[in-house]
Amino acid sequence: MAKTMIEPFRIKSVEPIRMTSRDERVRLLDEAKLNVFKLRAEDVLIDWLTDSGTGAMSSRQWGAIMEGDESYAGARSFYRLEAVIRKITGMPHFIPTHQGRAAEKVLFTALCKKGNLVPNNCHFDTTRANLEYLGVEAADLVIPEGLQPGLVHPFKGDIDLGRVEALLKAEGGRIPFGMLTVTNNTGGGQPVSMANIRAYAKLLKQYGKPLILDICRFAENAMFIKMREPGYANTPVADIAAEMFSYADGATMSAKKDGMVNIGGFIVLRDDRWLDDIRNNLIMMEGFPTYGGLAGRDLEALAVGLEEGLDEDYLRYRLRTAEYLGEKLDAAGIGFVKPTGGHAVYLDARTVLPAMPVAHYPAWALCNALYLEGGIRGVEIGSVMFGKRLDDGSETYHKMELLRLAFPRRMYTQSHFDYAAEVIAEVKERAASIRGVKIVKQPKFLRHFTAEFAWVG
Ligand code: F0G
Repeated sequence: MAKTMIEPFRIKSVEPIRMTSRDERVRLLDEAKLNVFKLRAEDVLIDWLTDSGTGAMSSRQWGAIMEGDESYAGARSFYRLEAVIRKITGMPHFIPTHQGRAAEKVLFTALCKKGNLVPNNCHFDTTRANLEYLGVEAADLVIPEGLQPGLVHPFKGDIDLGRVEALLKAEGGRIPFGMLTVTNNTGGGQPVSMANIRAYAKLLKQYGKPLILDICRFAENAMFIKMREPGYANTPVADIAAEMFSYADGATMSAKKDGMVNIGGFIVLRDDRWLDDIRNNLIMMEGFPTYGGLAGRDLEALAVGLEEGLDEDYLRYRLRTAEYLGEKLDAAGIGFVKPTGGHAVYLDARTVLPAMPVAHYPAWALCNALYLEGGIRGVEIGSVMFGKRLDDGSETYHKMELLRLAFPRRMYTQSHFDYAAEVIAEVKERAASIRGVKIVKQPKFLRHFTAEFAWVG
């Protein structure tokens, strides 16, 4: 019989988390205007707001931090990280930035102009915002299966090649490059198959367009390929990642995910055609090209983290963690985006609150209920995040009401997941008593971060 898949690490340093009473949480959420973004993190028991920059570093990483060379130009730490990144990606040019969105801004400012159009499976919010800020249209072309939460498909992150080709034919002149996000965060942390990456790159090449990958979670994507795509079961994950990179001309990375660090990002490029423009932008926006907004010690931690993020025992455990929670949710009759993604589980709020009108924001209501019931913090991906209030006071709503529970790396153990599954099941039991919310104050853009709410009824 298969044994329990244990965490492939032991704990050397601990950080207490604080239990609160339900009464306290009622008061705290009230003070936070029913918006979990406004809670103090120390009032949260299990913080699954994001997997970005929130993970635990290893003893090797903390050791490497002491090796940081803080020279302004030409630091040893830069060359050490450059060598690691060249080995993993096969790309000769490495440009450090302080996080993923800075890499996007620096790259897009050099490559795009107003009126351009960039296809992707799904653009992450900051990727879309950085493009739109430059007057560029961001087209999301994930396969139709990728938009159906309950449908099981091994590679729901694949891009729809038919639609890409139609766009290249009709609008080719506007397209400076194609993008692909691995894994597809906005679509549920779903992987992209090697076959799809290969075919997309080939198609772009036929039209003379480069491929830029968004590689925040490339190691998780490579592990999914190993586990699900025929022909890769015996290929080392590092070789799978190398093949993924071999089809690309460049990439942006938020190292706060599979880089296993709390801060960092970078751009990699296969050739030097854009390099001068990018470096000039970098110096203006981030810093000198050998540190790019990071300290030498951050570069050292990342050099170790990138290697640890590709460890197969770690990755197997990592993907199993989400799957494990999924099994418990299934048993409790709670819907979620299937199959479970790499870094997160996306609960389908409509399966818990089927009768709640969308105008009462069911996924937001579920998010509040998880905090009140068990001190768990997730993030709503529904009509608060993607809906809009129009000038006449009416609202547009999102097509899905999801609640993302994103898991910091190497931080929570199986008993935290068991506890969370118990809390979610209890919330479902008590669904009839969950109240919806209304927005009483909101900013014009990105309203979910700062909006204030009141209970309905
Ligand atoms: N691309 C993807 C696919 C992302 O998921 C993120 C960040 C970024 C780019 C931007 O990177 O945060 O380092 O500037 N995602 C986080 C999340 C914030 O919670 O999903 P960043």
